[in-house]
Amino acid sequence: MQPRWYRNAVVYVVDPAMFRDSDGDGWGDLRGITDRLDHIRGLGATCLWILPFYASPYRDGGYDITDHLAVDPRFGDVADFALLLDKADELGLRVLVDLVGQHTSIEHRWFEEARRDRNSPYRDYYVWADEPHETDVSPNFPTVEDSVWTWDDEAQQFYRHVFYSHEPDLELGNPRVREELERVMAFWMRMGVAGFRVDAVPYMVERARAADPRHDGHWLLHEMRDFVARRGSEAVLLGEVDVSVEKYADYFAGGKGLTMLLDFWLNNHLFLSFARADATPLADAIAKQPAPPEWGQYANWLRNHDELDLEQLSDDERAEVFEVFAPDESMRAYGRGIRRRLGPMLGTQRRIALAHAVLHSLPGTPIILYGDELGMGDDLDRPQRLSVRTPMQWSDEPNAGFSAAPADQLITRVIDDGPFAYDRVNAYHQTLRRDSLQATLSNMVRTRTGLREIGLGRCRVLDVQCRPVLALRYDHEDTTLVMLANLADERVDFSLPDDDLGDLVDILADSDYDAVESGSGRIEVEGYGYRWLRPRERLFA
Ligand code: BGC
Repeated sequence: MQPRWYRNAVVYVVDPAMFRDSDGDGWGDLRGITDRLDHIRGLGATCLWILPFYASPYRDGGYDITDHLAVDPRFGDVADFALLLDKADELGLRVLVDLVGQHTSIEHRWFEEARRDRNSPYRDYYVWADEPHETDVSPNFPTVEDSVWTWDDEAQQFYRHVFYSHEPDLELGNPRVREELERVMAFWMRMGVAGFRVDAVPYMVERARAADPRHDGHWLLHEMRDFVARRGSEAVLLGEVDVSVEKYADYFAGGKGLTMLLDFWLNNHLFLSFARADATPLADAIAKQPAPPEWGQYANWLRNHDELDLEQLSDDERAEVFEVFAPDESMRAYGRGIRRRLGPMLGTQRRIALAHAVLHSLPGTPIILYGDELGMGDDLDRPQRLSVRTPMQWSDEPNAGFSAAPADQLITRVIDDGPFAYDRVNAYHQTLRRDSLQATLSNMVRTRTGLREIGLGRCRVLDVQCRPVLALRYDHEDTTLVMLANLADERVDFSLPDDDLGDLVDILADSDYDAVESGSGRIEVEGYGYRWLRPRERLFA
């Protein structure tokens, strides 16, 4: 049987521009990441996902690509990437990179050729119209772009763009475009990446569907999965799929489509549960989603590098979450999301640790955003989603130890005031303290990677008749795990419905608790506390 490494991985996401500047130009870079891989491995993560570092005018954080096969000189070069992979290998870290195949930058050579000449083979790489017309898509950034069509003087036609007007949509229905993407995947796989985080998947499928309705356009994913699997049986396609839960199965396609799905459904319900201090919405959401196929897995996260997009909630539910976590309009984005980091939203170290404990208990592979291990803050003066992309806070040295450049030459200012300032929140201080968030999280991550039941087993929500508590039970072969989290700030006690567990002992908990005697009934969990338990006889199962 294949090891299916991704089912029990812990992923750490790095923004290459913000992590560590090795050459003093004010931008983070690949060598900077390589220098700090020990921090990531030290946290216990087993996989690194690096946000785009490709050639780009950088008007959309590098998702606006001008050459998918080149490293942007600000980040280094391909040799730097090879060295990063070498060191990652040495440390036992796998590396995922973004595959942005839904659009390019308007400055991409393909688009320049396309707009210049109607007869160029590149013309059909993009989506054109003589007049704007209704399509299945609407602007993804509705407060920024009011149409998906923009007139191009040179081309004398409108081009379509779901995202920014400087990101024209690729025509995935065109086999030549798909070949280009295969070249891109082959190149980075040859370099040694373990797979791709595939950007904007539903929009890719939409173009495929328009060209060929087979499998409702999901044939595109079957093709991509085949291509990747032929080059590396362990390689993954981790898809950004912000769609309703009923559609998840189509994207997994029974093991023929995406390997992993970024689970927006659970992410949204997790925040609804936090907002209400009531685990019911999250528990119901877990129960409602389909089990992934044998060769698949969900991926979960608390915050990512974008806004906390709450589109999978109803309008009323979203309003509730806004009310609690983004009371001020300036904390919101695009009418659908929150542009804050975890630290400022949750407030205390205890509650942030609880949130991480929930994340690491969910069925799926946890993803941690750089800086969330410290409880870093955000910079609401930055536009749109950039508020959550600020330099990593390494120490209390100038520029937070991120860069040796003069402060006014940094890609963006470091957070230097308020409760999240870098002299208060930084990796150096947290490495020295055994009770820091970073220390708590790294203990959690290490424990989590040993719990094979989560990645491989069956998950069941336990009805403990206590609304603030999320209670999950995992069974795999002859091992069992019970994971409890109290989303409210007051201590609770309750009993478990299952009577086949025997004595339970804590393998990880927020505080010291007594073991749970078989049949004794009550279990306590402190306010914002968590307990991960195994039956005593199967502790080392
Ligand atoms: C990325 C965003 C980006 C968008 C367009 C998203 O899924 O996460 O940061 O702006 O795709 O590429």
